[in-house]
Amino acid sequence: MAIERTLSIIKPDATAKPGAAGEILARFEKAGLQIIAMKKIRLTEELAKGFYAVHRERPFYGELVAFMTSGPVVVSALEGENAIQAHRDLLGPTNSNEAPAGTIRGDFGTDIERNAGHGSDAPETAKIEISYFFNASEILAPVEAL
Ligand code: CMP
Repeated sequence: MAIERTLSIIKPDATAKPGAAGEILARFEKAGLQIIAMKKIRLTEELAKGFYAVHRERPFYGELVAFMTSGPVVVSALEGENAIQAHRDLLGPTNSNEAPAGTIRGDFGTDIERNAGHGSDAPETAKIEISYFFNASEILAPVEAL
């Protein structure tokens, strides 16, 4: 298995729940994913639109941008073995209504839009998404490499 990096966004529905963001970050670390960059920010409309530009023709784009700018998000870059799939497994299915208890979306999400978290879906998109939010100087080397 390869050491990968992935981008995680803890969405506004989850950051609004007391203790949820901390619990979600703890789940990443317990699963062996190292947090190599992190910030809590409120996305501007421009940032959210750019991040989800691939969905701009979809009917839900406007609502998605409105939701993503409705409160703070915690954005992090995670590194570990098979990080992209490992993170997606922690998130569960995109639609929170279909996500089992024990997954982040099952425990903290509501529906397909308010689904608590985003995770990159492939190495190429992970690279683009991480650099969308972080400069090289904001990304730490993993502990073993120090
Ligand atoms: P995310 O992993 O952040 O990537 C795109 C997001 O679009 C997705 O999670 C959902 O939050 C949202 N999304 C996908 N499909 C729909 C839909 N049919 N209706 C509303 N939101 C959607």
